[in-house]
Amino acid sequence: MSGGQPKQLLRALAGETLERPPWWLMRQAGRYLPEYRALRAQMPGFVEFCLTPELAAEATLQPIRRFGMDAAIVFADILLVPRALGQHVEFGDDGPVLEAVAEGAGIAGLRREGCFGLEPVYETVRRSRTALPQQTALIGFAGSPWTVATYMVEGGSSRDFRRVKAWAYRDPDSFAELIDLLVDATVGYLSGQITAGADVVQLFDSWAGVLPEVGFARWVIDPTRRITARLKESFPHVPIIGFPRGAGLLYQRYAAESGVDAVGLDTVVPTGFAREHLQNRLVVQGNLDPVALLVGGSMLAQAVKEIRGALGGGPFVFNLGHGVLPQTPPENVAALARLLAEPVDFA
Ligand code: CP3
Repeated sequence: MSGGQPKQLLRALAGETLERPPWWLMRQAGRYLPEYRALRAQMPGFVEFCLTPELAAEATLQPIRRFGMDAAIVFADILLVPRALGQHVEFGDDGPVLEAVAEGAGIAGLRREGCFGLEPVYETVRRSRTALPQQTALIGFAGSPWTVATYMVEGGSSRDFRRVKAWAYRDPDSFAELIDLLVDATVGYLSGQITAGADVVQLFDSWAGVLPEVGFARWVIDPTRRITARLKESFPHVPIIGFPRGAGLLYQRYAAESGVDAVGLDTVVPTGFAREHLQNRLVVQGNLDPVALLVGGSMLAQAVKEIRGALGGGPFVFNLGHGVLPQTPPENVAALARLLAEPVDFA
């Protein structure tokens, strides 16, 4: 960090307890903002939008201008990595569509030499870092290998994950080749973002919660641990946030074994459980229900107060338990910013 004003997010991620928690929101850039929709209209393809640094950097900065969060998150997508490994990826009206990687074919159709074509994302990081206020942290991100593999094998979003799980259960050795390829790609991609100026990185494991314990240990914790170990070797001072959405009771093993500095709590993690069993060992981030932000008013104020009361007495970053919903009124995010600027009493 260069001199001048300290970044509140970095202080919290280093384990400090702050009077007002630093905050940012998953999916804070996006369709709920009219200025994002206007910018997005300039480029029909979502992948092309992500890979145009001028537009992606502007999308990164938009929520900061309006609401002054303590961190910006680089505008990109977790599915840029499969594309960079040679898989066909498209974003349609019903979500992402990928040319599925089949169990029988394994990783034969993918580039073993790693990612290509991700330089525009690094340029987005550089432009965003230059434009951001000094006290605002910049977060780089990637999907975790397991979550990215679910999209690669299912060919898009899934309800039951039967293809990816069946492959992992039936032929763990060949599935491990896909996960190993993704571990290498993720380390390379996050290293590129850090070198370009990201202060923090987050691993999104949106589908961590669909595996039983044995699979969770092998396909969620182990690859995450290998990624954190390798990043720590090259960038010991860059904090890593892990978000194992839906992990339930397995949050404890994840916190103990994955090597992350902070853990993102999903909406249903009880704050009392998090305080007692997670915050004693690492920084916690979360976990307002995105629907509370959509509803706003006194319901929002009450929910924010409860979360701050439970978690604000230790190292804590305020966030949602999942991403901002596109239907969220921007005024409610402004109201949240005001609520978080107020001091709170701890029991
Ligand atoms: O503001 C930010 O958080 C930065 C940008 C960001 C996007 N996607 C932009 C985006 C981030 C951090 C992501 C992460 C991401 N992408 C995840 C993990 C978080 C989560 O929500 O669980 C996942 C699973 C994806 C994959 C993905 N991208 C899906 C399933 C979809 C379609 C559904 C949807 O939300 O639209 C996307 C598209 C996408 N990624 C959009 C945005 C702004 C919407 C497309 C558009 O604006 O045209």
